[in-house]
Amino acid sequence: LVSDDRIVSAGVTTIDDSGVADRLYHPELWPLDPKLLHLNHGSFGAVPSAVLAEQQRWRERMEGNPTGFFRRELQPALEGARLAACAFLGADAGGLTFVQNSTSGVGAVLASFPLVAGDEVLVTDHVYAAVLFGARKAAERVGASVVVAPVALGASDDEAVAALVAKVTDRTRLAIVDQVTSATAQAFPVARIVAALQDRGVAVLVDGAHAPGLLPVDLSVLRPDFWTGNFHKWPCSPRGSAGLFVAERWRGTVGSFPVSWREDEGFPYSFLLPGTVDSSAWLSVPAALEFFGRWGWSAVRERNGALAAYGQRVVAEAIGADVSGMPGNAGGSAVGGAGLAMRLVPLPGVLADPVAADALRDRLADEFGIESVINVWGGRALLRVSAQLYNREADYERLAVAVRSLL
Ligand SMILES: Cc1ncc(COP(=O)(O)O)c(C=O)c1O
Repeated sequence: LVSDDRIVSAGVTTIDDSGVADRLYHPELWPLDPKLLHLNHGSFGAVPSAVLAEQQRWRERMEGNPTGFFRRELQPALEGARLAACAFLGADAGGLTFVQNSTSGVGAVLASFPLVAGDEVLVTDHVYAAVLFGARKAAERVGASVVVAPVALGASDDEAVAALVAKVTDRTRLAIVDQVTSATAQAFPVARIVAALQDRGVAVLVDGAHAPGLLPVDLSVLRPDFWTGNFHKWPCSPRGSAGLFVAERWRGTVGSFPVSWREDEGFPYSFLLPGTVDSSAWLSVPAALEFFGRWGWSAVRERNGALAAYGQRVVAEAIGADVSGMPGNAGGSAVGGAGLAMRLVPLPGVLADPVAADALRDRLADEFGIESVINVWGGRALLRVSAQLYNREADYERLAVAVRSLL
């Protein structure tokens, strides 16, 4: 079906088909510019007004009495926020600390992990670029190397596990594995990967940048050596809030950079007083978790997963793209339910070149007011659509019209 400014997917099974009003559509709760379409929650998140107000409240306490705040109030308050984060992720109370972002979490592990000459660090070809750069730098410093395991786009869980296991040698010390990949929006079966690699004597750092909120995360079940993930993506906490989990046997090894005033207390406290910084993002994590708690995380995931699937389908139909082999659909052991709230549409005819992809993304923004992301991976340009509670079906219908007119 085509109208002037919308394309509607025929035969849809969406959240609206049941005739039930979409009670989880709440654009009024975010301060997003209503003149634009925001279809890229995955990259930088978006902070609800209520969570921004909580952050502002903390800032006002800090500015009302800087000395009292830093001397007496901050660290006890941070402990409350940290324990809320531990509970949300299934971490034991000594297992999780706050970091600025997943990049910092990965960096802290790479800076302390005892690599020596000849060792190998294993990653996949979906690895986040900044993480790969960090791994290479840590390896080069000591004469170790980085080994890349190719994993096909949309690989099954068995294939993903096998691809990593196939690259393990007797020199593999550390593997860095995404829980949800960035450019390819693929959920890897990290529980199986962690178990398989640990069995072979390899420590595993799970890069869970996208995982909190997008998937259920239970670190007591996952049992990684290390895990990092963002509160500022899917839980919609202010930017600069992320977690770093370290398994007990590594807690004496992983330290903070810069070295903090609480260094002597060891992990997790050694990360919590890195000089004079604005910690209001960390302090606002509980408010962000409570914000979604009113609907329940599984209801939010179901709704957003169904909406992203609709968005994927309506754009794919408009441009004749085949999404049958794309990752993120329901059913995989790591996804379940309605699937991920972040889906791919391959763009036929678009050069698989970051400059061309960025140019198309910018035209969507400049000419149509649509914020999106187009990544290049495996010789293809991949449009990645996200769904959050401020999105609805019509947003993707407008995206479909825009993409079709630009191809
Ligand atoms: C897989 C993965 N790792 C790491 C990062 C970096 O996250 P941050 O920018 O919050 O450090 C991202 C960001 O999208 C990501 O997708």
